[in-house]
Amino acid sequence: MREDLIQLKERTLEALSNLQNMDELNDLRVKILGKKGELTQVLRGMAKLTAEERPVIGKLANEIKDELESKFSEKMRLIKKAVQEQKMQQEFIDVTIPTKISVGSKHPLTLVLDEIKEIFIGLGYEVAEGPEVELDYYNFEALNTPADHPARDVQDTFYITEKILLRTQTSPVQVRTMEKQSPPLKIIAPGRVYRSDSVDATHSPMFHQVEGLTVGEGFTMGDLKGTLVKFVHEMFGRNRKARFRPHFFPFTEPSAEMDISCIACEGKGCRVCSYTGWLEILGCGMVHPNVFRNVGLDPEKVNGFAFGMGVERIAMLKYGINDMRLFFENDLRFLRQF
Ligand code: FA5
Ligand code: MG
Repeated sequence: MREDLIQLKERTLEALSNLQNMDELNDLRVKILGKKGELTQVLRGMAKLTAEERPVIGKLANEIKDELESKFSEKMRLIKKAVQEQKMQQEFIDVTIPTKISVGSKHPLTLVLDEIKEIFIGLGYEVAEGPEVELDYYNFEALNTPADHPARDVQDTFYITEKILLRTQTSPVQVRTMEKQSPPLKIIAPGRVYRSDSVDATHSPMFHQVEGLTVGEGFTMGDLKGTLVKFVHEMFGRNRKARFRPHFFPFTEPSAEMDISCIACEGKGCRVCSYTGWLEILGCGMVHPNVFRNVGLDPEKVNGFAFGMGVERIAMLKYGINDMRLFFENDLRFLRQF
């Protein structure tokens, strides 16, 4: 019996040193030390021993049991430690490895829009908004442009239904604002507009405008010119040349367009300026009395001026870009320069 016990111990220690994980360890523990385990089986045989043998074997059996139990605990500790170490190794992150983080930059149109807003906010204007999907009423009717008006052909319109369209200009925001707020008013309205224009270096079917509207008492064309010249100086510097040309818009009277000397050719004439030396950036004028009447204001009591500028054209002049298509192609080689 003594032999059996010693052999059991040797076998168990051998098995213990070979096993690798917790499952195997638990299985072995049950197999040897469990209620129906091998050690228990051996001890059952004690009943057959003589009275002298019994305490000696009993002592040996207890010693072996204690030894095995402590070896099991030790092995368990080792396995746990190994598992922990493996996990640490797998989850290791070297925070000292240099990483390359590429930060995006603002689109040139966003930069220019931000700058336009900043300049007019500095002049006391507030920012207003209107929908891109607009009613025919706001885009044309209320702006003194009835259905049979020839000016409707000038801006080729994307219609959604007979009465709903994609706005061709930001001017409808003038009407929406005057319906809600009473004068004195100073607002700008930046946003996208749509026209079925064919694409070239200076035209896009979707582009951005910033509308401006000032309403109060006693304004003149001088106030309009002063405001826009101030804008040009802030935007392009004092040396940039601007000129006003008489023009026609149904919703202003008198009306004008403003050109800036072409930056691409310094006024010599090129593709960007259609060989004129000038690039048209905005339309403007004194608000037409009919527009005031359409929003319930009395043109005998209030007056004002309005303008609508093309943001892409201004960005082209600002950054010396000779083709509007570059803004919409999202070529990273272009965008990364801003
Ligand atoms: C208008 O849209 C008027 N609503 C402007 C206005 C507002 C006049 C308030 C009076 C009072 P026009 O169609 O000229 O006007 O467009 C204004 C500007 O938008 C142009 O000067 C030009 O800079 C820009 N623009 C016009 N068509 C395009 C296009 N297809 N692509 C890019 N920019 C354009
Ligand atoms: Mg025009």
